[in-house]
Amino acid sequence: MFWLPVDRTLDMPLIRQVYEQIRLRILHGELQAEDRLPATRELASNLGVSRNVIIEAYEQLIAEGYLVGFQGSGTYVAKGAYLKQEDKDEFLSLFEMNQHIENDTGVIDFRSGIPALDMFPRKSWGHIAKQVCIETSQSIFGYDHPEGRTELRLVLAQYLKRTRGVNCHPDQLVITSGATQAFSLIANLLLSSEDEIIIEDPITNEIQTIFSSSGTSLYPIPVDEYGMKTDLLPANKRPKFIFVTPSHQFPLGGTLPIQRRIQLIHFARNTDCYIIEDDYDSEFRYQGTPVSSLQGLDPERVIYVGTFSKILSPGLRLGYLILPPSLAQKCKDLKWFMDLHTPSLEQLTLAHFIDGNYLERHIRKMKKVYQVRRDYIKSCLKQEFSNTVTILGDSTGLHLVAEFEDIVFSEDILSKITEHNVKVYPVESHAIQKGNHTNKIILGYGNLSKEEIKEGIKRLKCALTTS
Ligand SMILES: Cc1ncc(COP(=O)(O)O)c(C=O)c1O
Repeated sequence: MFWLPVDRTLDMPLIRQVYEQIRLRILHGELQAEDRLPATRELASNLGVSRNVIIEAYEQLIAEGYLVGFQGSGTYVAKGAYLKQEDKDEFLSLFEMNQHIENDTGVIDFRSGIPALDMFPRKSWGHIAKQVCIETSQSIFGYDHPEGRTELRLVLAQYLKRTRGVNCHPDQLVITSGATQAFSLIANLLLSSEDEIIIEDPITNEIQTIFSSSGTSLYPIPVDEYGMKTDLLPANKRPKFIFVTPSHQFPLGGTLPIQRRIQLIHFARNTDCYIIEDDYDSEFRYQGTPVSSLQGLDPERVIYVGTFSKILSPGLRLGYLILPPSLAQKCKDLKWFMDLHTPSLEQLTLAHFIDGNYLERHIRKMKKVYQVRRDYIKSCLKQEFSNTVTILGDSTGLHLVAEFEDIVFSEDILSKITEHNVKVYPVESHAIQKGNHTNKIILGYGNLSKEEIKEGIKRLKCALTTS
């Protein structure tokens, strides 16, 4: 009997499920040229779906050339629709794909920067998204402005002033597809191959790659428990900009004190360069009062980058850039070249989400959740490793760094840890100058339950004591 799995709980119409599975079987060669497919009535009855579902799926496959239908004599696989597989993974069925993403079970992954995905505010977001889709004028379905929806830029400017001390007019804001696109826009806007920038060391590999990909050289400045060591800024350099994560240095977690912020601004003024402030997760501050942005101290020098990846979801791909007025128009032009604009429905949904006070409520709620997880991971680390571990950078955010007294996280030790079904991330892999952080790992806890945290740290201990 010819059979395909159909799943009514999937967010995919049945016609599409049937169509996609037959299409993939033909491409893989599991269904071969001239194979006859069951009659529509028969397949519908095998799968327990209406006959129209099968008719429409077959019609679509015929229209695309995968099948040929002969009136009265059945439906057959067309010739020439088999594509030799180079890499089997590329041809996973949709069901396998879902499992691939969702069922990486057994492994406890301390990847940093992932918020609690099971606590995304589905109801309120979904309710607003539906309202936006149904009630907004039809122009929202057309092309939009590259800088983003006015409604979002207005509420965002007010929100950032209130919560982060950011000083900007909505015209200085460009809505981007996450902070990552904001970094690419900055690179396009300011950098060429002869340029040099000053950057914290360590800092994420991705950011290093984006800024160095145009041939620009990176001048690393080491980071201590307070962030960039600004007394090491080189008087003889003329960088295009200085890149910092001042609220919560990534990955080491320091918060840049006001004295260093002022030193940084003096340096930027003297060398006539910009400062890029990446403020990726400062909303979740557990100790002390929230620190104001660097941008508020000198809006003409500082380009501020923010994201909704941590406070809401990385899947939304929503971020933003705040530029001095002199750079704003050029940046909008570049955004237009890149992808015209960030999706309008999501932008408008977010604008209502902020305006209706849902965002701040969500942040308040999540801050409590993450604080419990942070305290718990610290106590688990202490329990398993007592005073052979030092915890760094835990005042803010969704990750901390564990520094071990006598362990070097070499490739061998890291594979041993992976064999114990736990994933941790070495700080050293984000270091520009190698050798200074070999005994430190990044532990993200935002998307892990207390049980997972406890089990993960136990496995880590086990891996380290048996290696
Ligand atoms: C330092 C830093 N900045 C920004 C981001 C956010 O990137 P995006 O907004 O593109 O998800 C990340 C992601 O983990 C990060 O580590």
